[in-house]
Amino acid sequence: MELFDFRRMSFYQIWIRSFADGNGDGIGDLYGVYDKLDYIASLGVDGIWFSPIYPSPNADYGYDISNYRDIHPDYGTLEDFRRVLDRAHALGLRVIMDLVINHTSDEHPWFLESRKSRDNPYSDYYIWRDPKWKGESRLPPNNWYSQFEGLAWEYCPERAQYYLHVFAKKQPDLNMDNPRVREEVKGIMRFWLDMGVDGFREDVITYISKHPQLPDGIPFLPVINGQPYYKDGPNLLTYLREFRAVAKEYGALQIGEAPMTPVGTALTYLTGEDRVLDMMIQFDHMTADCFLTEYLHHPFSLRKLKRAFSRWQNALAGKAWNALYLENHDHPRVISRYGSEEFRRESGTALAAAYLFQRGTPFIYQGQELGMTNIRLGSIEEYQDVATINTYHSFRRRQSEEKRLRHVHIASRDSARTPMQWDASENAGFSPVRPWFAVNPNYREINAEAEEADPQSILSFYRRCLRLRKESDTLLWGEYREYFPLHRHLYVYERSRGSERILIVCSFSKTEQTWQLPGGYAWEGCSPVLCNYPGEPTLGRLRPYEAQVLRWDGAAGEGAKRDHERE
Ligand code: GLC
Ligand code: CA
Repeated sequence: MELFDFRRMSFYQIWIRSFADGNGDGIGDLYGVYDKLDYIASLGVDGIWFSPIYPSPNADYGYDISNYRDIHPDYGTLEDFRRVLDRAHALGLRVIMDLVINHTSDEHPWFLESRKSRDNPYSDYYIWRDPKWKGESRLPPNNWYSQFEGLAWEYCPERAQYYLHVFAKKQPDLNMDNPRVREEVKGIMRFWLDMGVDGFREDVITYISKHPQLPDGIPFLPVINGQPYYKDGPNLLTYLREFRAVAKEYGALQIGEAPMTPVGTALTYLTGEDRVLDMMIQFDHMTADCFLTEYLHHPFSLRKLKRAFSRWQNALAGKAWNALYLENHDHPRVISRYGSEEFRRESGTALAAAYLFQRGTPFIYQGQELGMTNIRLGSIEEYQDVATINTYHSFRRRQSEEKRLRHVHIASRDSARTPMQWDASENAGFSPVRPWFAVNPNYREINAEAEEADPQSILSFYRRCLRLRKESDTLLWGEYREYFPLHRHLYVYERSRGSERILIVCSFSKTEQTWQLPGGYAWEGCSPVLCNYPGEPTLGRLRPYEAQVLRWDGAAGEGAKRDHERE
């Protein structure tokens, strides 16, 4: 079946536990989602990506799955999901699911069997290895570190072997080299596609093929020690081709998550006759204020951000299609990182204009459209995320508690996981009872209801941007070009098609900036189409975090000139 045209679309990401509580137990669920589908459609998006909603012990909030073919009882039932799916489709929204197949939960029945012995039907479903011995001491098979929790190996006395976990201990990696495991994956895909879902976001999909020898890594930075041997592995393309064949039968969309994948490598998955992914969630532009991970923070660099943006725009041009995003459940809130909480409305809207008009399919994460910001909890005990808690306890242990907590405030994924701020009532209108996780105290000012009523709000601006993008062939398909790449305060990019040129000019400065048009442009014939301040923008001048979208129609301009000459 033919794939739908995802390039015209934009998506809204739901991390269900914190989205909307429909049955009053403090936890977001499918009843809440059902009630908010009209809100989602009203944004002007065309699809929803659900972060995992399957049964899970929640060691990594849904990314540790214990049953691939059901719904977590906290969120509802398969019947409830079908209702949401049907209603979403009726509203013109596609629905894609998270496919997490690099690992399962250690409570998944496959693992419970696998760990029992070396010769049962599931014993090869995971990556088991004998210990290494150094005299009397038992050591793990290699020196890899997990990304979340110490060493990447956990010993299991029943088998007298270790299993590999690239993420938390409770997330054993599946052995994708086992053909039966790949058949299981295809079965899972069919299960959801038969139900009518439209595709998948494929979790850390570039990790599923491991180097057969599992050699020692270079212990330079623990969290990525081993990564060269489990990322972009030797059989990755072969396995992805198998999954692609299933997706093709259904015309299903496949978006792969690929941490730290350089653009050159990305092209091997995104291009060619048998391209195996339609889009890639890459991480390049998510490190404009850090090295590799948010925990290695440095001051925000607009130039670094622009380099990453343009690198992907240019490399994929005419060859592949970008997935555009600034937030998801794995990163702190973008205003607190790349913008300014002081100029929250201005920087939240400037950031929107900085990415929504690039070439690609935008993704918007719940609460981003409201300009939600980072939470700063008073102690590590109040945090929930396994990565946050482990990093706190294992990293910079000699620093004061206060300093370490400050790193958490800057870097924690939990800032993206606070309950959605629907209105100014108790618990932000998320739930009638105390929610499962702390509500950001700023909900009285920052909430959907207040922003609905305000034409200048971030929410209103997102709606305007998405409408403009959809109505403009130039913004959808036009060429991308960046100007003034070395400028420290301005991001200026052009989209052009035929005789139409659109300049998107975004200031990342807290003070007023003046700027001049790039060569080949003149103010004459310029029509402002969008601005994040009320009223008409002043050309050549930008207030703090001002964003202007300016349009030139060459054909109209030249036509007018000719008319003028004739007279
Ligand atoms: C992906 C998910 C993240 C999860 C990790 C392990 O990066 O987005 O939330 O913790 O994979 O599944
Ligand atoms: Ca609930």
